[in-house]
Amino acid sequence: MKKFRFPEDGDVAADIRERYGFDGDLLEIYAENTGAKVHKWHHYIPIYDRYFSRYRSTKVKFLEIGVNNGGSLQMWRKYLGPDAVLCGIDINPDCSQYDGQSGMVRIGSQDDPEFLAAVVKEMGGVDVVLDDGSHRMHHIEKSLRVLFPMLNEGGTYMIEDLHTAYYPRFGGGFNAPANFFNTMRQMVDDMHSWYHGKSGLALPELAREFSGLHVHDSIVVIDKAAAQRPTHSRVQK
Ligand SMILES: C[S@@+](CC[C@H](N)C(=O)[O-])C[C@H]1O[C@@H](n2cnc3c(N)ncnc32)[C@H](O)[C@@H]1O
Repeated sequence: MKKFRFPEDGDVAADIRERYGFDGDLLEIYAENTGAKVHKWHHYIPIYDRYFSRYRSTKVKFLEIGVNNGGSLQMWRKYLGPDAVLCGIDINPDCSQYDGQSGMVRIGSQDDPEFLAAVVKEMGGVDVVLDDGSHRMHHIEKSLRVLFPMLNEGGTYMIEDLHTAYYPRFGGGFNAPANFFNTMRQMVDDMHSWYHGKSGLALPELAREFSGLHVHDSIVVIDKAAAQRPTHSRVQK
């Protein structure tokens, strides 16, 4: 990933502002970050703002998979505000030292359904999931299948760093069956099952629960909303 690295002495804010035309608060929160280190791809900043700005200054219940050194949770606290219920989960027990700093931190694996259910119960529900965990294909899909049904109606499920879908060491590969974008394709087909009529849904636990799939470079966003049987009309008043 070195070939994508921004120069140490470069102006992070200027790069994001100039190349992505973004100048919101999150730019400063990220680019002026102090304390725990936070490491993000520059093009993620405007994408986060596009999907998460509506949760600012609310009591949003926000679950981040992957805590590392706590920098990301610190960024979300500054961005979302004091009322947000923030929880980070990580498999690394060392991350428990960040519990209570910017939010709750709980230790466990993103592919453990009982652990995930317990965390969501403790949070009192969940509105947003941000998967920045192992980035392994089977973990991403397992977490999605377990957590998406628990997401509150109107919620947002974001998965980042999906360039890993092309890397064999994460269980992906350009033509690998487990490449997460194959799952996305199945979700597109499930979304349109009304029209093609093929029996059997690829992801029945999700098929009628999402209303939108958004693909950005390395980021997928799934909107949680009960799918409605489509209808159309001709109107002339
Ligand atoms: C890329 S770092 C996340 C960083 C954090 N979100 C940030 O932006 O600073 C990925 C984290 O996922 C954690 N992780 C790896 N496998 C995991 C698993 N199976 N379940 C939960 N967390 C896992 C790692 O320990 C690591 O801290």
